[in-house]
Amino acid sequence: MAASAAIVTIALCLAAGAAEAQTLVPAVMIFGDSVVDAGNNNGLLTLVKANFPPYGRDFSPRPFPTGRFCNGKLATDFTVENLGFTTYPPAYLSREATGNNLLTGANFASAASGYLDRTANLYRAISLNQQLENYREYQSNVVRIAGGKDKAAGIFSGALHILSAGSSDYVQNYYIDPYLNGAYTPEQFADFLLRPFASFVQSLYGLGARRIGVTSLPPTGCLPAAITLFGGSGFGCVERLNADAVAFNKKLAASADSLKRSHPDLKLVVFDVYNPLLDLVKNPSNHGFFEARKACCGTGTIETSLLCNARSPGTCANATGYVFWDSFHPTEAANKVLANALLIQGIELIS
Ligand SMILES: *[C@@H]1O[C@H](CO)[C@@H](O)[C@H](O)[C@H]1NC(C)=O
Repeated sequence: MAASAAIVTIALCLAAGAAEAQTLVPAVMIFGDSVVDAGNNNGLLTLVKANFPPYGRDFSPRPFPTGRFCNGKLATDFTVENLGFTTYPPAYLSREATGNNLLTGANFASAASGYLDRTANLYRAISLNQQLENYREYQSNVVRIAGGKDKAAGIFSGALHILSAGSSDYVQNYYIDPYLNGAYTPEQFADFLLRPFASFVQSLYGLGARRIGVTSLPPTGCLPAAITLFGGSGFGCVERLNADAVAFNKKLAASADSLKRSHPDLKLVVFDVYNPLLDLVKNPSNHGFFEARKACCGTGTIETSLLCNARSPGTCANATGYVFWDSFHPTEAANKVLANALLIQGIELIS
């Protein structure tokens, strides 16, 4: 934490020194799933939403269920703050996504989306391909608002693009679909996901993006819902799922390396979410947490989205000691720890 604070300080000083820039990048564009969705599902015909209490109950400056799958801020919210922004990229489908608000980025992510369009379609979420379409539309708006193609192109090439996907493909699709997990081994399924990953990155590159950060899979076997659904007896993480995540992450890193080789001017970083979150789960007290198995909302073993609501019995009064807010998603306190880890890993993207 001290190290990351130092890096932020250095980075902000560099930024302050450079012209009149107040942020380390001109904009932040966000794509993917519920880990980063800031409210795009609110108006969709999907059951995967979080725009009701107790979601957002600790959001500052004022408690509000924005549609984030968290009691407060997402890791990407902290990242955006660390980069010097005072506002977050608006959910592209929200009313805030208009006019000058668009110049510092937008959030295209949709809970329950994944690398496979089919994963998103199962839950009526916005697929990555549709998110890309929305980004194209966004870009033409920005050309107009920024006052010209050159100015807009500078925003797109300087912007940090963040992609979070893959968890839903495994947990909300592969593991629960006997056809899929009968037909493909987890490793084959990983290969299957990395094709849309590579083409997504190439599409972003084609749209002018030059700074892309993609998150690894988390230790999916440690998500409270996964332990409940796939863990059988005992309270430890589901090792089989964690092994699948590790295998996927290895392939993801290899795929990213190959993309970088074919695009030398592309800065592409794979953010390791796996190890920082595993460390939080295995050694919560090292980071000031006391509960890493049960989530705060409801019984803490299965509730997420509609099941985590104001009537869920048992919701904890104070989530700061909990690693998980609902059975799939970290608390704001955990997200802050994760964001600090990502900051150190992402230095290359902002230099
Ligand atoms: C929650 O607990 C933390 C740590 O014990 C404390 O600092 C904080 O004030 C508490 N928050 C509320 C809303 O009670």
